[in-house]
Amino acid sequence: MKNYIDLSDIKDLQALLTEASELKKAHAALEIGKGKTLGMLFFNPSLRTRLSTEKAAKLLGMDVLVMNAGSDGWALEFEDGAIMNSNKAEHIKEAAAVLSQYCDIIAVRAFPELKDRKEDEAENILNSFKNYASVPVVNLESATGHPLQALTDALTIQELKKKDKPKVVLTWAPHPKALPQSVPNSFTKMMQKMEFDFVITNPEGYDLNPEITKNTRVVHNQDEALKDADFVYVKNWSSYEDYGQKLSEDKSWMISQEKLKATNNARVMHCLPVRRNMVIADDVLDSSSSAVILQAKNRTFAAQAVLKEILEETA
Ligand code: CP
Repeated sequence: MKNYIDLSDIKDLQALLTEASELKKAHAALEIGKGKTLGMLFFNPSLRTRLSTEKAAKLLGMDVLVMNAGSDGWALEFEDGAIMNSNKAEHIKEAAAVLSQYCDIIAVRAFPELKDRKEDEAENILNSFKNYASVPVVNLESATGHPLQALTDALTIQELKKKDKPKVVLTWAPHPKALPQSVPNSFTKMMQKMEFDFVITNPEGYDLNPEITKNTRVVHNQDEALKDADFVYVKNWSSYEDYGQKLSEDKSWMISQEKLKATNNARVMHCLPVRRNMVIADDVLDSSSSAVILQAKNRTFAAQAVLKEILEETA
């Protein structure tokens, strides 16, 4: 693996999951990253991604530099040929080249603005780092994807599943704000790579990008979709069709123990942070149905597997 921008960068998914699983079992400090530096730039807030990726890098022996690029760094210009007479003081060409002198891997978090679909899909910030950095680039959640989260989610399901082909349901849930489609996009792509019975359920108007969902079954009746589910992955996202808009706050889509009665004692997943009693009820999050803390734990080992594979490839 040269970069980890999207799930398509994974050469052998089962091998990567096995690696993450073995790293988790061993939970030992390695030396492969000794003398190497991971630089992480956050244009948006984070708890899990920031700390688990830092921990993963340190478990590999790496040094870590972290910067809240959105608030602490110079405002970056990404346009090629721009006349820089506005508030943007530094061009990505210099910024990425300079960071490549300090770091052996650069990792970037940059959310979408949710105003212009084409602009968000261009993944300007992430792709600019990829284009102008001379070292590998890792996606810490971009405008359209969160591949480190998806790898963690696959690892968690693989760890918890009691049958070869579990039923996995990705369900939309209400939220007070319009959120990106990054997590459901990457989760969908990941589930399409697994031999699972995968269904997406969301209200009308909330269908994800059809180029991502492809042939995956989309059901607009949540109760029907939840029937016999072994895993329920809960997430809010804004409309793709009416791009970036919040069309509904339908409370009847919140996941509660009442909703789970139709499932096969499903384990409930969420990438976190989660708004209690809005997205998922207390009676689920405080019960043994919840797998959200295990998911967060597994972030470290998924990140460790990815960073290790990049270090091996670039050694
Ligand atoms: N799931 C996730 O990416 O969490 P953070 O936003 O806290 O990093």
